[in-house]
Amino acid sequence: MNTKHPSDSKTTVTDLVLPSETNAIHTLFGGELLARMDRAASITAQRHSERIVVTASVNHVAFNHAIPLGSIVTIEAKVSRAFKSSMEVYLDVWYTDNNFNTPIKANEAIFTFVAVDENGKPVQIPELIPESEQEKKRFDGALRRRQLSLVLAGKMDAEDASELKALFKKK
Ligand SMILES: CC(C)(COP(=O)(O)OP(=O)(O)OC[C@H]1O[C@@H](n2cnc3c(N)ncnc32)[C@H](O)[C@@H]1OP(=O)(O)O)[C@@H](O)C(=O)NCCC(=O)NCCS
Repeated sequence: MNTKHPSDSKTTVTDLVLPSETNAIHTLFGGELLARMDRAASITAQRHSERIVVTASVNHVAFNHAIPLGSIVTIEAKVSRAFKSSMEVYLDVWYTDNNFNTPIKANEAIFTFVAVDENGKPVQIPELIPESEQEKKRFDGALRRRQLSLVLAGKMDAEDASELKALFKKK
């Protein structure tokens, strides 16, 4: 199977924050941002695998900065590592407020997608070769995050999570 780089499937989505998408303090509703990130990440995963994909897990999300009404929100999604049928997608989110200041980094998130056939059965995907320093760093951490996700989902015994356990060992 062929190999791909993160830039081959990178997806950038830009959209506004409208009144119907905000909470009581007029900032972007968290669930709305989650849906936007899921869409952007799923396009990236489809581009990488050239298959139908489903969201297997939301591994991490933190809302570090509230995004005000009227802001321009940019979501960048890149595959950070591909395994057999699953792939980790890393998202970076920025916004520009109504004063058109320099874009502010709002948050990062990590999702896992699985490529499936028409019957929902997992299928093999291309390998990912990271290029930039940041891509290599995210690639290296992805195995640990995959093990954590599988342990939390009850799909892996913590005893077998070697990469994860290594984090807690004294140097
Ligand atoms: C995700 C799904 C396809 C996995 O199917 P499964 O029968 O459990 O398949 P497997 O156990 O063989 O796992 C397939 C891959 O998913 C990965 N996976 C499954 N659950 C995971 C989790 N919670 N976190 C990270 N990876 C996970 C496995 O590690 C495996 O990866 P690999 O092939 O790269 O080694 C299945 O659970 C599913 O269809 N879930 C519903 C998805 C959905 O509806 N999402 C929301 C709407 S899009």
